[in-house]
Order: sequence, then structure tokens, then C-alpha cells
Amino acid sequence: MISSVLPTYNRAPLSFVSGAGAWLTEADGRRFLDLGAGIAVNALGHANPKLVEVLTDQAQKLWHTSNLYQIPQQQALADKLVANTFADTVFFTNSGTESCELAVKMARKYFYDKGQPERVEIITFSGSFHGRSSAGIAAAGSEKMTKGFGPLLPGFVHLDFGDHDALNAAINDKICAILIEPVQGEGGIRPVPDQCLKGLRDLCDEHGILLIFDEVQCGVGRTGKLFAHEWAGITPDIMMVAKGIGGGFPLGAVLATENAASGMTAGTHGSTYGGNPLGCAVGCAVMDIVADPAFLAEVNRKASLLRQKLEGLVAGHPDVFESVRGSGLMLGLKCKVAPGDFVNAGYGKEVITVPAADNVVRLLPPLNITEEEIAEAVNRLDAAAASLAP
Ligand SMILES: Cc1ncc(COP(=O)(O)O)c(C=O)c1O
Repeated sequence: MISSVLPTYNRAPLSFVSGAGAWLTEADGRRFLDLGAGIAVNALGHANPKLVEVLTDQAQKLWHTSNLYQIPQQQALADKLVANTFADTVFFTNSGTESCELAVKMARKYFYDKGQPERVEIITFSGSFHGRSSAGIAAAGSEKMTKGFGPLLPGFVHLDFGDHDALNAAINDKICAILIEPVQGEGGIRPVPDQCLKGLRDLCDEHGILLIFDEVQCGVGRTGKLFAHEWAGITPDIMMVAKGIGGGFPLGAVLATENAASGMTAGTHGSTYGGNPLGCAVGCAVMDIVADPAFLAEVNRKASLLRQKLEGLVAGHPDVFESVRGSGLMLGLKCKVAPGDFVNAGYGKEVITVPAADNVVRLLPPLNITEEEIAEAVNRLDAAAASLAP
């Protein structure tokens, strides 16, 4: 008999009942160190006192009106995002998938309004992940995500990650945009080298096409800059954001330049819940904390510490691990064992990690994890690895 919850997830036998910072408490009382942060969502840890305060404060005043009216918290968050990024304008969503939908629509509408309606195709890369909607799965294009769900939304050109020749050959007068994650998350923590991001910017400028970054997983301080592309010193035309921006409250956004957003006039797009007072109040508090250079400096310091300890872990367990990769506090352990086996071994040692493609286990701890917690986390990972050794 089918379970009352649609069985689309293989869930671990763990039910967490409370959380504080980097710690989660299971129903049976065990305390787990959380190096997954709800897959890069709880950027400031569980039950962050500041976020609890702004959320409960807002909850007592007003939950929802509609985008038919002014929403001061939404305006404030948009102003903060515009002040701190390349963007001139922001549309709020409830998830990364919805951000993907709008990014695709925005790019196509841009060229439609410029009198080039044939420019509808978007270049994407193997290993990418952009969400589970019809546009999201068609954009990623992998068999795993698309099989059985046809007919797929047309208009995506799939290239191998890192194949520069194929990329140059794929540019033609049907292409409207290139869509890429600066650091692939689900694909196995694969950073795009800075010079490649620069090359993509140049290629888009040369051909007059739009560059879309999906920073749903790698954005909001995760790599030690507010947004990951900042390391490369270039900017996109459109950027998808979600996960960390809400610190655990469902919130996403599409950021864009005035030029790229020029087709999105009144009536062309909308969302009932997107940009609601609750989400945006929390988003403002997240931005106030994460956009602070002193906070980002701490993320970088802790990221170096964690990475250094992980190098030691890998060296100590050559049968289990191959290497460490990633950027900031978005790190991957490339495994020699099945990543699911390592994640399960971690559960046994009360430490949470997240599997990804390419035989990688992801570490995405809260950005405010402490030095002591990093040391304890690596001890637990070490014990998990030891429990797997032949
Ligand atoms: C890079 C990237 N894009 C898009 C999404 C989809 O976001 P959501 O699950 O919030 O719809 C994800 C989710 O993991 C993601 O990692």
C-alpha cells in the first residue's frame, strides 16, 4: 500500500524534533552535528535567535497580503540585494525551482521584445541541477531526472561540463542564454574555475546573449563571498537564488540587471506567496548578517580550517576517500566507497552529511559553525570512515 506521504524520497530512519545552531536532536534524544544544514538552507544554523525573533515578531503583525499591494519587507530586502550585488531589480519566489522558471522566461522575453523571437534556446551543462519543474528537469536534461516525464520543455542545449570546443560550436542565432551553477551542488561539488566563468562572460558579451547563474546552492555566503561568482570578478545578467537567503524559511529570488529584466513588465509574471512579509522579514535579517564583510571573513577562516582537517581525514583513510574539493563551506569528499554508505556510517556516529553525484559526499555546514564544532565534526567523520574501512 502506498504511504500517505508520496514515496518520492528514500528517507533515513531519523526524525529530528529540535535544533540549535549546528546541532539537531533526534526523537530518541541523540544529538547530531549537522553538516548538511537542510542542503545548504539553514545558513545561520537551526533556531537562530535573531531569525526566530524577526519571524515571530512579523507573525504577530501580518503574514500575507498579496503582491497586489506594497510589501515593505519585500521592498527592504530587494533594496539590500540591489545594494550588495550586480542586480538592479529582484523578483521574489518561494524556491529555487521557481527562480529557474522565471530566469528562463526572462531570458526568452528579453529577446522576444528585442525583435528576435527565434532566440529561445538556453545552453546548460551535464551534472547541473536546476529544480524539478518541467523547465528545471529539461534544463538539467539528465536521464535520471527526465525519464518518463516527456514531452520535455524544448529549448535547452546540453553540453558536457568543461567542454570549451562544444560550447563555442553551440553558439548560434537561436541561443538566448547560458545557464550555469558557479559551483555545481547536486552534481558533486564541482566548482567552475574562475577563468572559465570569465570566459563565459566574454562569450556572452561577444554574442550578445545573457549569462544566468544558478546560485541557489552556492550563494548567500556559502563560498565565503556573498555570491560565488564574485571570486571570478565578473557578474551575470540574471541570477537564481533560494535556500540560504531564507535561512530555513521558504524564500527564493531572481536578481537581474535592468537590461535583462526589460521584458518583465506588469502582468508578465507573478506569484501568490513570493515575497510575502514573513519570508522577507527573515531574508532581511539573513542579509544583514551574511553580507557583513566581517561575517564573510569568518566563513573563509572556518572554511580553511575545515578544509585543512578534511585533507588530513582523506590522507588517513585512503581506502574510503580520494580527495577534497569545493569552495568555502561548500565542500565535497570524493569517495572510493559508495557515498550513501559513508552518509549512513555518519548517522551511526551522529554526524549528518549529504550524498551527491560523482561519488561525492557533501559538507554544507551552517556558515556560523564554531571552531570547536568543526573539530568535533571531523572527529565524527573520522570515526565514520574508520567504521567502513575493510
Ligand atoms: C543549484 C540548484 N538549483 C535549483 C535548485 C532547486 O531548488 P528548490 O529545491 O528550492 O526548488 C536546487 C536545489 O537543490 C539547486 O541546488
